[in-house]
Amino acid sequence: SPTLSGMIERIHLAKPRGFCAGVVMAIQAVEKAARTEDKPVTVYHSIVHNHTVVERLRAGGGVHFVEDLDTINALPDSGETVIFSAHGISPVVRERARQLGLATIDATCPLVTKVHTEAKKYAREGYTILLIGDSARHQEVIGTRGEAPNHTILVGVLGQAHKEGSGLNDPHTVEVPDPSRVVVLTQTTLSVDDTRRTVDVLKARFPALVVPPSEDLCYATKNRQDAVKAIAPMVDTFLVLTSTHSSNGMRLLELARDLCGRAERLETVADLGGLDLSGVCSVGITSAASTPDDLVQAVVEHFRVLNPNLQVIEEGEWENIEFREPRKILPTDQLPR
Ligand code: F3S
Repeated sequence: SPTLSGMIERIHLAKPRGFCAGVVMAIQAVEKAARTEDKPVTVYHSIVHNHTVVERLRAGGGVHFVEDLDTINALPDSGETVIFSAHGISPVVRERARQLGLATIDATCPLVTKVHTEAKKYAREGYTILLIGDSARHQEVIGTRGEAPNHTILVGVLGQAHKEGSGLNDPHTVEVPDPSRVVVLTQTTLSVDDTRRTVDVLKARFPALVVPPSEDLCYATKNRQDAVKAIAPMVDTFLVLTSTHSSNGMRLLELARDLCGRAERLETVADLGGLDLSGVCSVGITSAASTPDDLVQAVVEHFRVLNPNLQVIEEGEWENIEFREPRKILPTDQLPR
């Protein structure tokens, strides 16, 4: 039967979706510091890549966001504690914090730190690191590369690699100084399928390529993509709640678009106004690892108001992972490099 415009009959809510353990840990670290520190805390870079999260933390007070530690002094009421975002930092940033005498709370996701550890190990052993990322400007790529800048060559994901001026090398043409000593590492939040295809191209070109036994893509990235794959055959279109600078979120959008032929990005429920959903009966909904779930619930409620008989189907499992709260490190505890 024909549906009215915007009259959705069925929603499939992806599970898991939304906050991963790294994001929960990072947001809680900021909230706690804002509560307990005498003066405002400074967060280096957006703590996680979601506008609503950053706006809410700002509105709550006691938090500044900077992109450069040297600007902290210019803030009217800055404290002496800086929090590093979930995406991780280059060692030069940690060193600058030490030089500036700042206390630090490192909210880097442990699964990002794991990749940093691999980068240091392989660089020490004289390997060239091919680091697959979706942008040379992504904070995580900058941080991981910073562990071994002279040993790291950035490689784009297949299909995105050739973008001019991206700073990423094409996997088909990238060259390394010694093909017998080369390893591939990746950003944690890429497309599972595109990453596999990219690694396959590199393996064919460099038969001695080392692929670390535990993959760098994180559980949250993989699980959210799997949930989209499970739902896609059952829906007419997908709505993906994500900010544009969330790597994992934009990969969900692309995946949903590939599988459904159609998918839309929403920052919040307010963006629904601009969408034409005529002819759409069933919708899949998912959200980035940094998107608060109340934003998803607001979208569901919107459709429920339009159709009180709306069916909401939520299958799959939540993840059961938690990361430890980061400790505050005083300037006196920080070792010079
Ligand atoms: Fe960590 Fe993956 Fe979340 S790297 S911050 S668990 S998206």
